[in-house]
Amino acid sequence: MSVAEEISRLRKALIEHNLRYYVEDDPIISDGEYDRLLRNLEKLEKQHPELITPDSPTQRVGAPPLKTFGTITHRQPLLSLANAMNEEEVYAFDTAVKKSLDIETDIDYVAEPKLDGLAVELVYENGNFAYGSTRGDGITGEDITQNLRTIRAIPLKLRDGLTIPGILEVRGEVFMNKADFEKMNARRLKSGEAPFANPRNASAGSLRQLDARITATRPLRIYCYSKGHITDMTFASHYEFLSALPRWGFPVNPLIERGRGAKFMVEFFRRMEARRDELPYDIDGVVFKVNSFAQQAQLGVRSRNPRWAIAGKFKAQQVSTIVNDIEVQVGRTGALTPVAKLEPVTVGGVVVSNATLHNQDEIRRKDIRIGDTVLIQRAGDVIPEVVKVITAKRPPGTAVYFLPDDCPVCGHRVSRPDGEAVARCQNMACPAQVKGRIEHFAAKNCLNIEGFGAKLVDQLVEKELLSDVADIYDLTRNQLAGLERMGEKSAANIMAEIEKSKHTTLARFIFALGIRNVGEHAAKLLEQAFAGKLERLRKTSFDELIAIPEIGDIMAQSLLDFFADPSNAGILDRLLAAGFTFQTVIKPKDSALAGKIFVFTGSLEKISRTEAKTMVEKQGARASASVSSKTNYVVAGQGAGSKLTKAQTLGIRILSEEEFLQLMSNKSSDGTTP
Ligand code: IVH
Repeated sequence: MSVAEEISRLRKALIEHNLRYYVEDDPIISDGEYDRLLRNLEKLEKQHPELITPDSPTQRVGAPPLKTFGTITHRQPLLSLANAMNEEEVYAFDTAVKKSLDIETDIDYVAEPKLDGLAVELVYENGNFAYGSTRGDGITGEDITQNLRTIRAIPLKLRDGLTIPGILEVRGEVFMNKADFEKMNARRLKSGEAPFANPRNASAGSLRQLDARITATRPLRIYCYSKGHITDMTFASHYEFLSALPRWGFPVNPLIERGRGAKFMVEFFRRMEARRDELPYDIDGVVFKVNSFAQQAQLGVRSRNPRWAIAGKFKAQQVSTIVNDIEVQVGRTGALTPVAKLEPVTVGGVVVSNATLHNQDEIRRKDIRIGDTVLIQRAGDVIPEVVKVITAKRPPGTAVYFLPDDCPVCGHRVSRPDGEAVARCQNMACPAQVKGRIEHFAAKNCLNIEGFGAKLVDQLVEKELLSDVADIYDLTRNQLAGLERMGEKSAANIMAEIEKSKHTTLARFIFALGIRNVGEHAAKLLEQAFAGKLERLRKTSFDELIAIPEIGDIMAQSLLDFFADPSNAGILDRLLAAGFTFQTVIKPKDSALAGKIFVFTGSLEKISRTEAKTMVEKQGARASASVSSKTNYVVAGQGAGSKLTKAQTLGIRILSEEEFLQLMSNKSSDGTTP
């Protein structure tokens, strides 16, 4: 046998064993034997580099580490699912589907476990894995091609036997098996690395590595569950598509079932919930999808959720533990937040030792006391909360808990206005508030002063070098270098970061000021409305503010109060004197939509065509009259006709007027934020 033949034989064997392992779940050789074949192939390829091909099993890790991830705009958005929290909501979903389709007989559904991992999209061009991305915001995601290539369950080349489409987009969930996760964590602990909190975090962290060699060491898997754009072939149903996937070489969850009617869904839900703990991977629910693609199209999409699918969420896992203490934290607005210090327990794969108790009313309602045994839960990424007290286990002599009357940080009086749930320390100079405001000002989504975190702020406030945010710009390198654990070099870096922060956007600046009721989104609206000019905002009036869409009375009043306050005015003047400049508001080249081509068809209801055109042009995109393969988005209004049909056949993203407006409002703010 020639070397070329031997190489080809090894590759075929490795690909076949891979399929048996990941797709068929029926391996016939051990992991050790697989590795031996792989090493043989590596050896031969090393001796004959001219014979290496990109789809060789040895070529999963290749590219050098990246500096950052690029972005990829999905041809079709990756939607998310509405949730059914209980069986009634599953029945309600079925009723809504039948009503909308005007069908009385049972609907054909596909039921799938809902894996708790990360959604990704894989794009194949002429049968070869071309690129892949994260879900991102559903419209654009990060280019994680190099990392996805390292996942052995992902075919680099489609298996023959079925049509090989020019373009095939497959979506699925990247995850880790619980056992693999435990083994990996044990290895990490042994080598002094921090263990991951749970398989989901481990998968997410692994996919976000800039160095694919690291990803390659992580036991990632994938199950595929839906399609994006596909050329050259059509499918009548979701189940038909799922059946094609393994034939191309993609793993599909073997627990997926097809059935009819609401009863089928509810039974599947119950079965999966009962089996949840014995499955090799974490699931947080099940997904039900209308099987027929024609019916899916008829049902359509509402905002970001398809009307043809729903996630049946399992109840959050609950465990009991003891409240060792209740600590009161003071935030930047002076708000007192009681936090239960818990005896550490594992809930849903994460060790929990704190749970927020929200406020006094919540504590009274649940009658939570120090020493109590409580039931806590954590649903998904949600912060742990106390569900209820197990009163039978209450030790004798516990006292009803009341928040202190004085601020635990500065001793100043706390007050709680009538009708408000939150008690606040009224002392603007309270060190907790001062620190909180400064930390917020420097935070990532505010002025993004790197290295200016809680520890540094604590020291600077305690040394009385900082008492408000403007003081940051009076700091000197020597002052910084004199601090604990701060060298000349770090001091210089921080000084440079401080200097850099003066060139920002008005939106970031406004949000950074921490004005009551003014969040990140509102700050972006204000930036737009005042064309990035702070002077104009400072002189604004109540009427002018409430004329801005989405800005109401309360926010308008908060803004006016803030600017009218002499000490705030003083801080603003000092900041401006320090040399703040704000970027011009619209920078099309920074917009994610720059260069994109939009086509409008049908009649728009909320805005005119001219307005729509101006909006896209502001993003550096343009409007065109006819649909072609170069078109990126088709906005379909009432009575849309042939252009819409053409867009559908070309697999172009179709937006409703509402979705278009949403895209514009998201992107215009993105466009100004570096
Ligand atoms: S279908 C409309 N199927 O759940 C189609 N999603 O909220 C949306 N997920 O982002 C996706 N298992 O990360 C689908 N069998 C499954 C899934 C699944 C897990 C995740 C996925 C998605 C989220 C939807």
